[in-house]
Amino acid sequence: MILCVNLNPCVDKTLFVDELRRDVIQTASRVSITVGGKANNVARVLSAFGREAVAMNFLGGETGRLCRRLLVEEDRVRTETIWTTAATREIITIFEEVPGRHTDIKEPSPLISADEKARFIERYTVLLADAQMVSFGGSAPSDSVDDLPAVLLRLARERGVPFILDTYGRAFALGIEQRPFMVKPNASEAGALLGFEVTDEAAQARALEVLAEKASLAVLSLGEGGFLAARNGHFWRVGSPQVKTVNAVGSGDALVAGVIMGLLDGRPFDETLALAAAAGAANAASPLACRIGPADVMPLVASARVCQL
Ligand SMILES: Nc1ncnc2c1ncn2[C@@H]1O[C@H](COP(=O)(O)OP(=O)(O)OP(=O)(O)O)[C@@H](O)[C@H]1O
Ligand SMILES: [Mg+2]
Repeated sequence: MILCVNLNPCVDKTLFVDELRRDVIQTASRVSITVGGKANNVARVLSAFGREAVAMNFLGGETGRLCRRLLVEEDRVRTETIWTTAATREIITIFEEVPGRHTDIKEPSPLISADEKARFIERYTVLLADAQMVSFGGSAPSDSVDDLPAVLLRLARERGVPFILDTYGRAFALGIEQRPFMVKPNASEAGALLGFEVTDEAAQARALEVLAEKASLAVLSLGEGGFLAARNGHFWRVGSPQVKTVNAVGSGDALVAGVIMGLLDGRPFDETLALAAAAGAANAASPLACRIGPADVMPLVASARVCQL
């Protein structure tokens, strides 16, 4: 199974309106409620492709119970929950269908106690025994758990389980020093880590080289511009399939799910990269994060342009 680890999940409520107007009462044309959390997104895609994913989360309160139910009943993933005293946060997204624009309002993240953190590490250590890979995604909810990705990574490395680290800020800075198997920042996350703007091609290449010194597989994602990848001293530029963008939130997570499936299936590496690009693009073409399956992704694989540099 693939162990998908989130420290800061959320209930993601999206209200769809034609266009947001201020100082009036509007009724949403529809409402969707899903579980947020970047590794939960990865788990959702893996499960839609028939892979065994376990979504591990800190959850608390009514919102936490809702997350667990949605993961089981809608996303069809196995869950492992460390219950917290603090309630899981909610994120409200207002999706304006006419301009194709979204606005997110986040509740503050919950505080995690020392005991809850210790229980997370203990349960994770047990689960590692059955994990083919760990996919860690998203932020750390409080300063007290900024070091947790690094701790989880070290435990996975000791047991020979490849660990994918997709986070940002201090948690990323601490985690990357533990030599993850894979990292996948976007340009702004990479820039914040490395201390320079990752805007032009020269800066992208420099960022990728530095990331490749820390991780066996480094991916720098560039939104609709596709991504750069580095593995064992070889470099690729991957052009994304062209799609009509609806909502690209979660495309990085879809990309990660594509890489996991390609690698675990033993596909040639260029096919793995094409699958990852197709998954990212399929997500961008759909309104909700990582509600995509083979019927959305597979038709796009042939139009990904994989070029070894
Ligand atoms: N609008 C788009 N059209 C086509 N492909 C896209 C688009 N946006 C993203 N992609 C594909 O998905 C990949 C990941 O997207 P992106 O760089 O936006 O990740 P991200 O910022 O980590 O997203 P998130 O954290 O919300 O999952 C890109 O490298 C690209 O291949
Ligand atoms: Mg991302």
